Amino acid sequence: GNYVGPLRPQVHFSPPQGFMNDPNGMFLDADGLYHLYYQYNPTDVVAGNQHWGHATSRDLYYWTNQQIALFPGGPNEGIFSGSAVVDVNNTSGFFPNQTNGVVAIYTLNTPERQTQDIAYSYDGGYTFIKYENNPVIPSNSTQFRDPKVFWHAPTEHWVMVIAYCVDFEIGIFTSPNLIDWTPTSNFTRHGTLGLQYECPNLVEMPMDGSNSTMWLLWISINPGAPLGGSITEYFPGTFNGTHFAAVDAATRLTDFAKDNYAGQFFGGIPGGQNQISINWASNWQYTNVVPTGDEGWRSVMSLPRENYLTNLTRIGYALISKPYNISRVVESELAYNSSLGNGTVFVDYSSVPSGALYFEANVTGLADSSSVDGSVNFTFTSSSTGESISGGTFLASGDIWLNRGNTRWENPYFTDKFSATGLYDGAGAWRISGVVDRSIVEVFLNDGELSASSVFFPSAPLDQMVLSVKGINEITTTSVGVWALSSSWL
Ligand code: FRU
Repeated sequence: GNYVGPLRPQVHFSPPQGFMNDPNGMFLDADGLYHLYYQYNPTDVVAGNQHWGHATSRDLYYWTNQQIALFPGGPNEGIFSGSAVVDVNNTSGFFPNQTNGVVAIYTLNTPERQTQDIAYSYDGGYTFIKYENNPVIPSNSTQFRDPKVFWHAPTEHWVMVIAYCVDFEIGIFTSPNLIDWTPTSNFTRHGTLGLQYECPNLVEMPMDGSNSTMWLLWISINPGAPLGGSITEYFPGTFNGTHFAAVDAATRLTDFAKDNYAGQFFGGIPGGQNQISINWASNWQYTNVVPTGDEGWRSVMSLPRENYLTNLTRIGYALISKPYNISRVVESELAYNSSLGNGTVFVDYSSVPSGALYFEANVTGLADSSSVDGSVNFTFTSSSTGESISGGTFLASGDIWLNRGNTRWENPYFTDKFSATGLYDGAGAWRISGVVDRSIVEVFLNDGELSASSVFFPSAPLDQMVLSVKGINEITTTSVGVWALSSSWL
C-alpha cells in the first residue's frame, strides 16, 4: 500500500489518502470483525466533502480498507458523524430475512440545517441504502448533530444521545425501531462548556474489581478546550433508560495532552467487559495544516483503548484508559532489564521496519513516595537531525510530563509541553508506559490512570531511544523493557 511515508503511523489507523476526522459507526459484528467508519474527505487533505470511510479489523491493529460506505447526495451535503448498530431482531423492519442487518444513524449536514438520517445495509455494513423517508429526526437547527445509538436491554428500546451543540445540551431520545424517535430528557450545561458540545457517547462501564457497572457520558468540546481547541470530558453517573444523572459536578478530562477528540465506543462488546474506544488523535486548532498533508493524507486515530471506571481514594471516580491488547503487535524485545536500579537503557531502532516501539518502566518497592526523589524519563531522538520528543514521571509527586516541542513544526496552537499529576495510592508501585509510532506518541501512567495522545512531526524519523531511571533508593527496583512493534501496513 501507500502507507510508507516517514510520518505514517504503523500501529495506528490512518486513512488511505485524503483527510480523516471523527471515528463513526463503530461496531463489532457477530463474526468477530470490528467495523470502523470515519469522517472522510477522499479528495483533499483538509476537512470538507464529508463521507463515511470504512475499514475492518479482527484485532484493531491490522486494518483492511474498505470501499467508502456513505456518500453525500450532492455538493452541499455532508454525511456528518454518527453511529451504527446491528439490528439483530429486525426492529426496523428492514431485515426480514437476516440477523446481520446494519443501520447507520448519522447527521445530514446542509447549509440550511442538520437532520438525523438513517441508512440500512443488507451486507453487514459494506454498502448502505439511504432510508426513503429521511430524516428520522427533522430539525431547522444548524447545530444539532452526532447521534450515538445503542440498545438498552432493561427497557427494550434504542437510546440515542445527540448534541444540541451551542445550547450545551445532550438530548436523549428513545425508539422502538430506529425510525420513530421520542425525546425523553436533556443533560444540560455540565462540566467545561467550551463553545460547543459535540459527539456524545453514553456507555455502561464495568467498575474495576467488582461485578457492578456505572454509566459514563462523554462529550467532546470544541473549540474552547482548556489547552485550546478540542478535548473530551466525561461524567460517571447513572442511567435508567431515559435519564442520565452525573455522580458529581466535577469536570474530568480523558487526556492530559490535546490530541484526543470525538472518540467513540464500539457497539456489540459483550456485557461486563471493558469497553473499547477509538479517538481521533488530532485537534481542530491545527488539524487542517499538519505536515502529513505532504504525504497525501491527514489525521490518525488513537490506539484502540480498553476502558473501565475505578474509584480512587482522593478524587473519586476516574476513567482508566489503556491500549487494548498491545501484545498483538509486540514483535521483538529490543531491551529488557528486570532490575535496572538507577541506570540507562539505550536503544538504536533504526533497523525496526515499522519505526514503532512499545516501552514500559515498572517501579516497585517505593517505601514512602514522599521520601523518594526518583524519576523515570524517556527521549526519542532522530540521529540525523537531533529532533526529539521526551517525557517522564516524578515518583514523589506522581507528575507525568510530555514534550513534543523539539521537532520542526512551528504552529502557534501546537502546544509543546503537557503535564498532569498522578495519584500515588501508597501501593508502592508505579508504572509508565507508552507507544511511539512515527508521528504519534501515547503515554500511560499506572496502566491508564492518566493518558495522553500527542502527534508530532519530525523532519527525519526518530530512531534512537533512551530510557533512564534516576534517584531511586536501594529498596526500590525498576524493570524496564522496550519492544519493536510489527506493522499493519508494510
Ligand atoms: C467533530 C465534528 C462533528 C461533526 C463532524 C463533521 O469533530 O465537528 O460535530 O459531525 O466533525 O466532520
